[in-house]
Amino acid sequence: MFSSFISILPLLLTLSTAQNFTTWSPPGPGDVRSPCPGLNSLANHGFLPHNGKAITIPLLIQACQDGMNVGADFATVIGGAGLLSVPDDLLATSFDLDDLDEHNFPIEHDASLSRADYYVDDGDNYSFNQSIFDMVLAYYEGMSETSIAVASAAKYNRVTTKEAEDSKFTYTPQQYILSYGETALYLSVMGDPVTGVAPVEYVKIFFEQERLPYNEGWRPPTTQTTLLTLGAMILQLVAANKDALPEGLEITTNTLKLAFGGYDPITGLLVHAL
Ligand code: HEM
Repeated sequence: MFSSFISILPLLLTLSTAQNFTTWSPPGPGDVRSPCPGLNSLANHGFLPHNGKAITIPLLIQACQDGMNVGADFATVIGGAGLLSVPDDLLATSFDLDDLDEHNFPIEHDASLSRADYYVDDGDNYSFNQSIFDMVLAYYEGMSETSIAVASAAKYNRVTTKEAEDSKFTYTPQQYILSYGETALYLSVMGDPVTGVAPVEYVKIFFEQERLPYNEGWRPPTTQTTLLTLGAMILQLVAANKDALPEGLEITTNTLKLAFGGYDPITGLLVHAL
Protein backbone atom coordinates (compact mmCIF):
# COMPACT_ATOMS: atom_id res chain seq x y z
CA MET A 1 0.00 0.00 0.00
CA PHE A 2 2.69 2.47 1.15
CA SER A 3 4.98 1.57 -1.76
CA SER A 4 2.21 2.11 -4.32
CA PHE A 5 1.54 5.54 -2.80
CA ILE A 6 5.25 6.35 -3.11
CA SER A 7 5.22 5.29 -6.74
CA ILE A 8 2.33 7.63 -7.68
CA LEU A 9 3.69 10.56 -5.62
CA PRO A 10 5.62 12.15 -8.53
CA LEU A 11 2.45 11.98 -10.65
CA LEU A 12 0.39 13.63 -7.91
CA LEU A 13 3.00 16.37 -7.52
CA THR A 14 3.04 17.01 -11.28
CA LEU A 15 -0.74 17.15 -11.35
CA SER A 16 -0.94 19.62 -8.47
CA THR A 17 1.62 21.89 -10.18
CA ALA A 18 -0.23 21.68 -13.52
CA GLN A 19 -3.34 22.69 -11.68
CA ASN A 20 -1.65 25.86 -10.51
CA PHE A 21 -0.80 26.75 -14.10
CA THR A 22 -4.38 26.33 -15.24
CA THR A 23 -5.99 27.73 -12.10
CA TRP A 24 -6.04 31.53 -12.03
CA SER A 25 -8.11 34.14 -10.26
CA PRO A 26 -7.56 37.87 -9.77
CA PRO A 27 -7.17 39.34 -6.29
CA GLY A 28 -10.41 39.50 -4.30
CA PRO A 29 -11.44 41.64 -1.33
CA GLY A 30 -8.67 41.75 1.28
CA ASP A 31 -6.03 40.32 -1.09
CA VAL A 32 -2.94 42.46 -1.68
CA ARG A 33 -0.70 42.78 -4.73
CA SER A 34 2.59 44.50 -5.63
CA PRO A 35 4.15 46.58 -8.43
CA CYS A 36 5.67 43.29 -9.71
CA PRO A 37 3.83 41.42 -12.48
CA GLY A 38 5.92 38.31 -11.67
CA LEU A 39 4.88 38.06 -8.01
CA ASN A 40 1.29 39.06 -8.78
CA SER A 41 1.04 36.31 -11.41
CA LEU A 42 2.45 33.77 -8.95
CA ALA A 43 -0.18 34.82 -6.37
CA ASN A 44 -3.02 34.81 -8.92
CA HIS A 45 -2.11 31.21 -9.79
CA GLY A 46 -1.66 30.16 -6.17
CA PHE A 47 2.09 29.47 -6.34
CA LEU A 48 2.23 32.20 -3.67
CA PRO A 49 -0.60 32.65 -1.15
CA HIS A 50 -3.54 34.10 -3.08
CA ASN A 51 -4.04 36.78 -0.44
CA GLY A 52 -0.45 38.00 -1.11
CA LYS A 53 0.43 37.90 2.58
CA ALA A 54 3.07 36.34 4.86
CA ILE A 55 5.56 35.46 2.14
CA THR A 56 8.70 33.87 3.55
CA ILE A 57 11.94 33.30 1.64
CA PRO A 58 11.52 29.49 1.40
CA LEU A 59 7.99 30.01 0.03
CA LEU A 60 9.28 32.56 -2.47
CA ILE A 61 12.10 30.29 -3.65
CA GLN A 62 9.68 27.43 -4.23
CA ALA A 63 7.14 29.62 -6.05
CA CYS A 64 9.73 31.24 -8.38
CA GLN A 65 11.16 27.79 -9.13
CA ASP A 66 7.84 26.01 -9.73
CA GLY A 67 6.08 28.85 -11.50
CA MET A 68 8.75 30.20 -13.85
CA ASN A 69 12.00 28.26 -13.33
CA VAL A 70 13.66 31.25 -11.67
CA GLY A 71 16.58 30.21 -9.47
CA ALA A 72 16.98 30.32 -5.72
CA ASP A 73 19.98 32.68 -6.01
CA PHE A 74 17.83 35.47 -7.45
CA ALA A 75 14.81 34.72 -5.26
CA THR A 76 16.97 34.75 -2.12
CA VAL A 77 18.65 38.12 -2.70
CA ILE A 78 15.58 39.97 -3.91
CA GLY A 79 13.49 38.26 -1.26
CA GLY A 80 15.91 39.74 1.30
CA ALA A 81 15.15 43.18 -0.12
CA GLY A 82 11.46 42.33 0.14
CA LEU A 83 11.92 41.70 3.87
CA LEU A 84 13.65 45.09 4.22
CA SER A 85 10.51 46.75 2.89
CA VAL A 86 8.40 45.57 5.84
CA PRO A 87 7.61 48.73 7.85
CA ASP A 88 9.04 49.07 11.35
CA ASP A 89 10.48 45.55 11.55
CA LEU A 90 14.14 45.11 10.69
CA LEU A 91 13.97 41.44 11.71
CA ALA A 92 10.91 40.53 9.61
CA THR A 93 10.87 36.96 8.29
CA SER A 94 7.95 37.46 5.92
CA PHE A 95 6.47 40.27 3.84
CA ASP A 96 3.13 41.12 2.22
CA LEU A 97 3.08 41.99 -1.48
CA ASP A 98 1.90 45.55 -0.82
CA ASP A 99 4.97 46.17 1.40
CA LEU A 100 6.91 46.30 -1.89
CA ASP A 101 5.19 49.55 -2.96
CA GLU A 102 7.59 51.66 -0.93
CA HIS A 103 9.21 54.15 -3.32
CA ASN A 104 12.95 53.72 -3.93
CA PHE A 105 13.34 51.47 -0.93
CA PRO A 106 14.50 49.02 -1.68
CA ILE A 107 13.14 47.86 -5.05
CA GLU A 108 10.31 50.04 -6.42
CA HIS A 109 11.64 52.75 -8.74
CA ASP A 110 10.78 55.34 -11.38
CA ALA A 111 10.46 54.73 -15.13
CA SER A 112 8.78 51.33 -14.78
CA LEU A 113 7.56 49.53 -17.87
CA SER A 114 3.96 49.30 -16.67
CA ARG A 115 3.53 51.48 -13.59
CA ALA A 116 3.41 55.26 -13.05
CA ASP A 117 6.14 57.16 -11.20
CA TYR A 118 5.43 57.72 -7.51
CA TYR A 119 5.43 61.52 -7.69
CA VAL A 120 3.53 61.73 -10.97
CA ASP A 121 0.34 59.76 -10.30
CA ASP A 122 -0.79 60.47 -6.71
CA GLY A 123 1.59 57.89 -5.31
CA ASP A 124 0.12 55.02 -7.34
CA ASN A 125 3.37 53.38 -8.33
CA TYR A 126 1.94 49.85 -8.06
CA SER A 127 -1.19 49.45 -10.24
CA PHE A 128 -0.84 48.21 -13.79
CA ASN A 129 -1.10 51.26 -16.10
CA GLN A 130 -2.14 50.44 -19.66
CA SER A 131 -1.14 53.76 -21.23
CA ILE A 132 2.39 53.41 -19.84
CA PHE A 133 2.69 49.80 -20.95
CA ASP A 134 1.40 50.83 -24.40
CA MET A 135 4.57 52.93 -24.74
CA VAL A 136 6.55 49.70 -24.41
CA LEU A 137 4.24 47.73 -26.69
CA ALA A 138 4.54 50.42 -29.37
CA TYR A 139 8.14 49.29 -29.86
CA TYR A 140 6.91 45.76 -30.68
CA GLU A 141 4.39 47.00 -33.25
CA GLY A 142 4.17 44.46 -36.08
CA MET A 143 6.46 41.98 -34.30
CA SER A 144 5.37 38.58 -32.96
CA GLU A 145 8.55 38.05 -30.89
CA THR A 146 10.69 40.19 -28.60
CA SER A 147 14.37 40.89 -29.16
CA ILE A 148 17.11 42.27 -26.94
CA ALA A 149 17.53 45.33 -29.20
CA VAL A 150 13.85 46.29 -29.20
CA ALA A 151 13.37 45.55 -25.49
CA SER A 152 16.36 47.73 -24.74
CA ALA A 153 15.08 50.64 -26.84
CA ALA A 154 11.64 50.40 -25.19
CA LYS A 155 13.19 50.42 -21.73
CA TYR A 156 15.53 53.33 -22.48
CA ASN A 157 12.60 55.33 -23.83
CA ARG A 158 10.84 54.96 -20.46
CA VAL A 159 13.91 56.45 -18.77
CA THR A 160 14.31 59.44 -21.12
CA THR A 161 10.56 60.16 -21.08
CA LYS A 162 10.32 60.14 -17.29
CA GLU A 163 13.56 62.06 -16.86
CA ALA A 164 11.94 64.87 -18.85
CA GLU A 165 8.52 64.66 -17.09
CA ASP A 166 9.20 63.84 -13.44
CA SER A 167 11.03 66.60 -11.56
CA LYS A 168 11.84 64.15 -8.73
CA PHE A 169 13.05 61.43 -11.09
CA THR A 170 15.63 59.13 -9.45
CA TYR A 171 17.94 56.86 -11.44
CA THR A 172 20.96 55.79 -9.42
CA PRO A 173 23.23 52.80 -10.21
CA GLN A 174 20.89 50.64 -8.12
CA GLN A 175 17.79 51.59 -10.11
CA TYR A 176 19.82 51.23 -13.28
CA ILE A 177 20.52 47.56 -12.50
CA LEU A 178 17.06 46.82 -11.11
CA SER A 179 15.28 48.25 -14.15
CA TYR A 180 17.49 46.49 -16.71
CA GLY A 181 17.11 43.35 -14.58
CA GLU A 182 13.32 43.59 -14.84
CA THR A 183 13.44 43.85 -18.63
CA ALA A 184 15.77 40.83 -18.60
CA LEU A 185 13.28 39.03 -16.34
CA TYR A 186 10.27 39.34 -18.61
CA LEU A 187 12.32 38.33 -21.67
CA SER A 188 13.67 35.35 -19.72
CA VAL A 189 10.53 33.98 -18.12
CA MET A 190 8.18 34.55 -21.04
CA GLY A 191 10.80 33.38 -23.52
CA ASP A 192 14.41 32.38 -23.19
CA PRO A 193 16.95 33.43 -20.50
CA VAL A 194 19.77 33.28 -23.06
CA THR A 195 18.35 34.75 -26.28
CA GLY A 196 15.67 37.02 -24.81
CA VAL A 197 13.23 35.93 -27.52
CA ALA A 198 9.63 35.66 -26.22
CA PRO A 199 6.27 35.72 -28.00
CA VAL A 200 4.88 39.27 -27.65
CA GLU A 201 1.44 37.72 -26.97
CA TYR A 202 2.82 36.02 -23.83
CA VAL A 203 4.45 39.24 -22.65
CA LYS A 204 1.15 41.09 -23.03
CA ILE A 205 -0.77 38.47 -21.02
CA PHE A 206 1.91 38.45 -18.32
CA PHE A 207 1.78 42.24 -17.80
CA GLU A 208 -1.84 43.03 -18.64
CA GLN A 209 -3.58 40.10 -16.91
CA GLU A 210 -0.82 39.04 -14.47
CA ARG A 211 -1.36 35.52 -15.68
CA LEU A 212 1.00 32.80 -16.93
CA PRO A 213 -0.07 32.12 -20.54
CA TYR A 214 -0.16 28.34 -20.02
CA ASN A 215 -3.45 27.91 -21.92
CA GLU A 216 -1.91 29.74 -24.89
CA GLY A 217 1.04 27.30 -25.01
CA TRP A 218 3.62 28.91 -22.71
CA ARG A 219 5.64 26.58 -20.48
CA PRO A 220 8.31 27.52 -17.90
CA PRO A 221 11.62 27.85 -19.79
CA THR A 222 13.79 24.74 -19.52
CA THR A 223 16.87 26.92 -18.92
CA GLN A 224 16.79 28.40 -15.44
CA THR A 225 16.89 32.19 -14.94
CA THR A 226 19.72 32.91 -12.49
CA LEU A 227 21.86 35.88 -11.45
CA LEU A 228 24.36 34.71 -14.07
CA THR A 229 21.85 34.65 -16.96
CA LEU A 230 20.35 37.96 -15.82
CA GLY A 231 23.78 39.60 -15.66
CA ALA A 232 24.66 38.40 -19.15
CA MET A 233 21.34 39.67 -20.53
CA ILE A 234 21.65 43.05 -18.77
CA LEU A 235 25.04 43.49 -20.48
CA GLN A 236 23.46 42.82 -23.87
CA LEU A 237 20.56 45.20 -23.14
CA VAL A 238 22.98 47.94 -22.10
CA ALA A 239 25.18 47.39 -25.16
CA ALA A 240 22.11 47.79 -27.39
CA ASN A 241 21.43 51.46 -26.48
CA LYS A 242 23.10 54.70 -25.42
CA ASP A 243 22.27 54.49 -21.68
CA ALA A 244 25.87 54.66 -20.45
CA LEU A 245 26.84 52.60 -17.40
CA PRO A 246 27.11 54.88 -14.36
CA GLU A 247 30.74 55.63 -13.50
CA GLY A 248 32.28 52.86 -11.41
CA LEU A 249 29.47 50.37 -12.06
CA GLU A 250 30.30 46.91 -13.32
CA ILE A 251 27.73 44.25 -14.13
CA THR A 252 28.92 41.21 -12.18
CA THR A 253 27.01 38.61 -10.20
CA ASN A 254 28.14 40.44 -7.08
CA THR A 255 26.86 43.86 -8.18
CA LEU A 256 23.57 42.19 -9.11
CA LYS A 257 23.40 40.62 -5.64
CA LEU A 258 23.90 44.03 -4.07
CA ALA A 259 21.43 45.91 -6.29
CA PHE A 260 18.69 43.26 -6.13
CA GLY A 261 19.31 42.97 -2.39
CA GLY A 262 18.59 46.67 -1.80
CA TYR A 263 22.18 47.88 -1.57
CA ASP A 264 24.08 50.45 -3.62
CA PRO A 265 25.97 48.29 -6.16
CA ILE A 266 29.04 50.57 -6.12
CA THR A 267 29.44 51.41 -2.42
CA GLY A 268 27.77 48.27 -1.01
CA LEU A 269 25.80 50.49 1.41
CA LEU A 270 22.14 49.94 2.27
CA VAL A 271 20.24 52.76 0.59
CA HIS A 272 17.83 54.79 2.77
CA ALA A 273 18.85 52.78 5.85
CA LEU A 274 18.62 55.81 8.13
C1 HEM B 1 9.61 35.01 -10.97
C2 HEM B 1 10.29 36.02 -10.54
C3 HEM B 1 10.06 37.43 -10.96
C4 HEM B 1 9.78 37.98 -12.17
C5 HEM B 1 9.61 37.26 -13.49
C6 HEM B 1 9.67 39.42 -11.99
C7 HEM B 1 9.43 40.34 -13.00
C8 HEM B 1 9.34 41.70 -12.84
C9 HEM B 1 9.17 42.66 -13.91
C10 HEM B 1 9.08 42.32 -15.39
C11 HEM B 1 9.09 43.89 -13.35
C12 HEM B 1 8.98 45.24 -14.08
C13 HEM B 1 7.60 45.86 -13.95
C14 HEM B 1 7.54 47.21 -14.58
O1 HEM B 1 8.57 47.82 -14.86
O2 HEM B 1 6.42 47.69 -14.79
C15 HEM B 1 9.20 43.72 -11.93
C16 HEM B 1 9.11 44.73 -11.01
C17 HEM B 1 9.22 44.54 -9.67
N1 HEM B 1 9.53 43.38 -9.01
FE1 HEM B 1 9.59 41.55 -9.82
N2 HEM B 1 9.87 39.71 -10.67
C18 HEM B 1 10.11 38.54 -10.01
C19 HEM B 1 10.37 38.39 -8.69
C20 HEM B 1 10.37 39.41 -7.78
C21 HEM B 1 10.65 39.25 -6.37
C22 HEM B 1 11.03 37.92 -5.70
C23 HEM B 1 10.49 40.49 -5.79
C24 HEM B 1 10.64 40.89 -4.35
C25 HEM B 1 10.52 40.12 -3.33
C26 HEM B 1 10.12 41.41 -6.84
C27 HEM B 1 9.84 42.74 -6.66
C28 HEM B 1 9.55 43.64 -7.67
C29 HEM B 1 9.23 45.04 -7.45
C30 HEM B 1 9.12 45.75 -6.10
C31 HEM B 1 9.04 45.60 -8.71
C32 HEM B 1 8.65 47.06 -9.04
C33 HEM B 1 9.81 47.79 -9.62
C34 HEM B 1 9.31 49.03 -10.33
O3 HEM B 1 9.13 50.05 -9.66
O4 HEM B 1 9.09 48.96 -11.53
N3 HEM B 1 10.07 40.73 -8.02
N4 HEM B 1 9.35 42.39 -11.64
